[in-house]
Amino acid sequence: MASLIAGTGAFVPRKAVSNHDLAKQIDTSDAWIVQRTGIRTRHLLEPEELPSEMAIEAARSALDEANLAPADVGLLLVATNFPDMICPGTAPFVAEGLDMETTPFFDITAGCTGFVYGLAIADGLLRVGAFPSALVIGMEALSRVADWKDRRTCVLFGDGAGAAVLLPTPGERGILGAALMGDAAGKSLLLHMPGGGAREPASAETVAAREHFLKMQGSGVFRHAVPMMAQATYAALKQADLSLADVDWVIPHQANSRIVDALVKRLGVSPERVIVNLDRVANTSTASIPIAFDEARRDGRIQEGDIIAMTAFGAGVTYGAVVLRA
Ligand code: ACO
Repeated sequence: MASLIAGTGAFVPRKAVSNHDLAKQIDTSDAWIVQRTGIRTRHLLEPEELPSEMAIEAARSALDEANLAPADVGLLLVATNFPDMICPGTAPFVAEGLDMETTPFFDITAGCTGFVYGLAIADGLLRVGAFPSALVIGMEALSRVADWKDRRTCVLFGDGAGAAVLLPTPGERGILGAALMGDAAGKSLLLHMPGGGAREPASAETVAAREHFLKMQGSGVFRHAVPMMAQATYAALKQADLSLADVDWVIPHQANSRIVDALVKRLGVSPERVIVNLDRVANTSTASIPIAFDEARRDGRIQEGDIIAMTAFGAGVTYGAVVLRA
């Protein structure tokens, strides 16, 4: 028994912001951003739009494709680092928006690896028969927490959501292997927000010190991200009893093109087998893998039976990979 991905969906806000648009507001340029990151455009929420609405839209498409009514979803997981509210998170807003009256739900905070963590958790629960189905969503509204005065970070991110419906299925399709890993020593290296939690509650001082915005040590990310994603990929493949030669498509976390290129080199896979959309949507954190997965399924690159390796790293530091047969 494996958990088949029976439907996927994705949503990005209507408002597209190009590098040229950004350069009108902050001291940056299209050339700098493209050369360092590969990003050309990102989609950002308007002030009146809600993060959970992106998750709801993505979920509707995934449920439609899986032919599953929201009320029949056994478990809802929403991977996000910046929920609609710190408490009670985003999942209850999504459940309410989809009219899931009694479905159990919870948020997963696992950095940009959150969607991969979510797939592995849902798969484990479906395998033991705890639920008849699961809806896993990656949703992030980084524009709401980016420091728009810090050009080193704000140009990197976009908003969006992606979703997948999992159904336990006999046969050879579905999630075949997963590896979830962590390295807490690196927690200040990747994205973090020092203020606003129970450790450093919001105060006039934390606001004045800009502690409610994203911080990141950009230059350290590279050194760690590439070996971590490679290690997780190999571990998930081993669990699936497969090798890289069996993989039809690698879907890496869409952080930036230099990290993706370095991963491709390290794994020794052909770039044509790697799904990349960060030029159009930027880094959408937990949403990056499900958005790319949905795009590639819908445009026909991913075909039934293909072997997919998803691999991510993120705040914490968390990292991990899932290998599945589409
Ligand atoms: N536009 C123009 N100039 C800029 C910008 C910008 N947006 N940002 C920084 N600069 C300038 C700096 O001020 C600096 O100028 P100086 O030398 O006069 O001081 C110069 O460019 C170089 O700055 P660095 O920060 O050293 O630039 P670097 O080459 O390291 O590139 C970048 C920065 C793109 C952030 C790079 O470090 C990177 O790609 N890091 C990985 C970040 C990432 O993807 N993180 C993932 C997020 S976390 C996650 O997804 C899990």
